[in-house]
Amino acid sequence: MSNLMAIILAAGKGTRMKSALPKVLHQVGGKSMVQQVLDAAKFAGAAKNVVIIGFGAQSVADALAGQAEFAVQTEQLGTGHAVMQARQELADFDGTVMVLCGDTPLLTGDLLKTMYSEHCSAQAAATVLTAIMPDPSGYGRVIRNPAGQVVKIVEHKDADPAELAVSEINTGIYCFEAKELLQALEGLTCNNAQGEYYLTDVIAILNSQNHKVWAVTAADYHETLGINSRAQLAEAESLIRQRKLETLMDNGVTIMDPGSTFIDAQVEIGPDTIIYPFTWIEGCSKIGSNSSIGPNSRIANTIIGNGATIHFTYAHDCTIGEDVTVGPYVHLRPKTDIKNGVKIGNFVEVKNTVVGEKSKIPHLSYIGDTDMGAGVNIGSGTITVNYDGKNKHRTTIEDEAFIGCNTNLVAPVTVGRGSYIAAGSTITKNVPPGSLGVARARQNNLEGWAEKQRR
Ligand code: UD1
Ligand code: CA
Repeated sequence: MSNLMAIILAAGKGTRMKSALPKVLHQVGGKSMVQQVLDAAKFAGAAKNVVIIGFGAQSVADALAGQAEFAVQTEQLGTGHAVMQARQELADFDGTVMVLCGDTPLLTGDLLKTMYSEHCSAQAAATVLTAIMPDPSGYGRVIRNPAGQVVKIVEHKDADPAELAVSEINTGIYCFEAKELLQALEGLTCNNAQGEYYLTDVIAILNSQNHKVWAVTAADYHETLGINSRAQLAEAESLIRQRKLETLMDNGVTIMDPGSTFIDAQVEIGPDTIIYPFTWIEGCSKIGSNSSIGPNSRIANTIIGNGATIHFTYAHDCTIGEDVTVGPYVHLRPKTDIKNGVKIGNFVEVKNTVVGEKSKIPHLSYIGDTDMGAGVNIGSGTITVNYDGKNKHRTTIEDEAFIGCNTNLVAPVTVGRGSYIAAGSTITKNVPPGSLGVARARQNNLEGWAEKQRR
């Protein structure tokens, strides 16, 4: 086991967000902020992760269940007080503790690795990650002595004009030796503008005890942005989105209009796929190569194979094979499994259905709870009647069946292999393989009828 652990502060309400949701659960790039921070900590090698929860404790714990340990801070008395809630964990631990804030979603594991390795080579008791901010307002300022050593951190609200002029800020990200941190926490007081126990005061305390305090400055301040307001949340979203799009483009994906393309961090896309404008690709979606997605599409938690064309489509929780064409104006709902070479288009809804290889649902249909074989042709306006008001029933359409236009298939029902359904039929009984199913009133022409009306 590595002797690196992380404490992630996530107990605050985030008053400035004006939200009922705990601040750290707001999403950036498709993941909650605290999840992004936890992932970065694990990437950097933290084998034990303790998340300090308080406001909305249960929802934060639920969101991270099984991924971390939790310590509860019942009253939010400041960042120093938050770390004190992990006193027991610190006492039981001999090694380095990264202290992170749950509201810095742009943080990368690489940056934490850099900080940790510099902390180790400096053999410091504490290392602060700092950044040079174009607008440092709101952040704690890093105060150095003429020799360049970090002396203390002063919170914005406690800073004098000279300190406010400092553009080097505390990112709220640190490495500490567990033993030194534990004893320095005992010295914290709340004699400051906010009446809180500031974790930042630990730096001055360690200095006064002649422990070595080190600082690492992030090369890119964007990575350390702390999110306190909705405006900053939007800024982080746009930065994380830009970061993802750049990675995809570096890997050979064409993004025609980055300004109107939204792709979540976990999404994978193969080379030579083209993403057209106004497209969202969300969650754990995976797209193969040589596919074309959009314009105007929303793809969520959906797997798409190579060579697919998906346009003007909303697909969620589906699987789509290779060389499939979907759209325009298609809704693919959960548990839809579309095999290779299928064509679905023009105002079609499909739900909880398997569509076999090379089958076609080209126009104006609702296909739900259906097992469809290969090479099936579904005529325009076909509806699977899957719901009797109480229960849902399945429809089976075997290979090579041909369903005429405007057919109702009243489930449960099976259309046998290679059979035909006459247009306009309402099918309520199974159709054996190779048959023609006709279920409609015969046409009767009354000759001369119109002439008689006029008399
Ligand atoms: C903190 C730092 C500041 C730094 C900034 C970086 C302190 C005193 N200040 O300020 O120097 O520049 O982060 O973003 O540390 N939290 C708790 N319990 C509490 C209070 C806070 O768990 O009692 C958590 C919050 O949920 C949040 C994190 O700690 O995830 C930071 O708290 P926040 O109130 O945002 O601190 P800042 O004022 O931004
Ligand atoms: Ca903050």
